[in-house]
Amino acid sequence: MANVAVIGAQWGDEGKGKVVDWLASRADVVVRYQGGHNAGHTLVVGNETYKLSLLPSGLVRGKLCVIGNGVVIDPEALLAEIARVRAQGLSVSPDTLRIADNAVLILPMHGALDRAREEARGDRKIGTTGRGIGPAYEDKVARRAIRVCDLAEPETLDAKLDELLRHHNTLLASLGAPTFDKQTVLARLLALAPEILPYVEPVWERLDTLRQAGKRILFEGAQAVMLDVDHGTYPYVTSSNTVAATAASGAGVGPHSVGFVLGIAKAYATRVGSGPFPSELHDDIGKGLGERGHEFGTVTGRPRRCGWFDAAMVRQAIKVSGIQGLVVTKLDVLDGLKELKLCTGYRIGDKVVKHLPAGMAAQAAAEPIFETMAGWTTSSRSMRTWAELPPAAIAYLRRIEELVEAPIALVSTSPERDDTIVVRDPFAD
Ligand code: GDP
Ligand code: IMO
Ligand code: MG
Repeated sequence: MANVAVIGAQWGDEGKGKVVDWLASRADVVVRYQGGHNAGHTLVVGNETYKLSLLPSGLVRGKLCVIGNGVVIDPEALLAEIARVRAQGLSVSPDTLRIADNAVLILPMHGALDRAREEARGDRKIGTTGRGIGPAYEDKVARRAIRVCDLAEPETLDAKLDELLRHHNTLLASLGAPTFDKQTVLARLLALAPEILPYVEPVWERLDTLRQAGKRILFEGAQAVMLDVDHGTYPYVTSSNTVAATAASGAGVGPHSVGFVLGIAKAYATRVGSGPFPSELHDDIGKGLGERGHEFGTVTGRPRRCGWFDAAMVRQAIKVSGIQGLVVTKLDVLDGLKELKLCTGYRIGDKVVKHLPAGMAAQAAAEPIFETMAGWTTSSRSMRTWAELPPAAIAYLRRIEELVEAPIALVSTSPERDDTIVVRDPFAD
């Protein structure tokens, strides 16, 4: 298949960055299409580690990168990230990076409102990244957002800021947070404009041309299906649609252009922030997974909650997002565990269900139903062929395939780019 979309099949941080980087060798263009700098994608290439939030992971291989209209862009964060990766030796220029003119901007009041609301929620906080993602998407659907193209129109900026600040300053004041001065925000945007505008264009036009020329597009998802604003564990979700269909609307291509949908899942489960997590471990095994897997948020540094692989949840993620092949990452983190558990469904009161229900109370009440499998004592770390894997690891992966009702395409056995087992090449389908 010409194009591939990479999406998270759990609650994020599955290793999408590593997989996109691995696949990017055969792609012509890499496109981000939703989310913002709440994402943190880690790529390890030899001695160098790259942490990307807004920039598509194809940059590390020098591929053309596109930030689509569905992304919410904090211009300050974007410029800081460009400076950071340049210092690591990567080249970023209008030849390698294109930004959609109709993407929405994240401005300082969005982060301020995000954080003030979280504080006001107290115990019921979502655990957002505090980057202003939710408020920026709210402004987009409320039709008051400032977009990238507005940077070229000082008068539009001036007029739009009046409406935007009327809204945000009222909310901020009601939460006891400092308000924003229009002239200061305007002056900063006008100062940033010449640094951003050289990258800006109608990216849909370029993607259409590339597609017609038979070029391969790799769509890089952020967050994951269980954080999707419709299909995730609402309200403990992010504010965008993370399912594969969003690749089309968030980049400006038709649904047929999305191509093969590749879902990424860890060999266990993690979650950052609040919300239901039926297979969560509160014991030493969970702590051990966190330590061996270095489970700390790339963006916020918060420790990630850890648990057993939830096959019922991944099956659900596969169904609602049309995942056609699965990548299982971090298999090596399970090395040495005597036995492993797989969650196959939930008990809610006296009912047994195979999927996570939509209701908040029902989700919170879901008790995992586990089946137990033998672990392995030999190492799977850095294995590059299926045949080298410990037999118990193969049995574990086969059982996952059965339970989630999707075939495994790749297995990842370390953070390093090439420590990847290919079962089935997603670009070959
Ligand atoms: P993303 O947000 O989905 O791109 O994932 P993150 O980069 O936030 O988190 C995944 C972490 O696991 C990163 O630190 C990766 O370097 C690391 N990683 C990816 N694949 C593997 C793997 O197969 N084994 C191990 N041990 N670490 C991995
Ligand atoms: P990547 O792309 C893991 C989580 C936050 C919080 C919820 C809402 O690296 O997988 P937001 O700031 O988006 O309003 O926060 O979503 N979250 C992520 N968790 N990985 C991510 O991105 C995430 N992006 C957001 O922790 O629970
Ligand atoms: Mg991440």
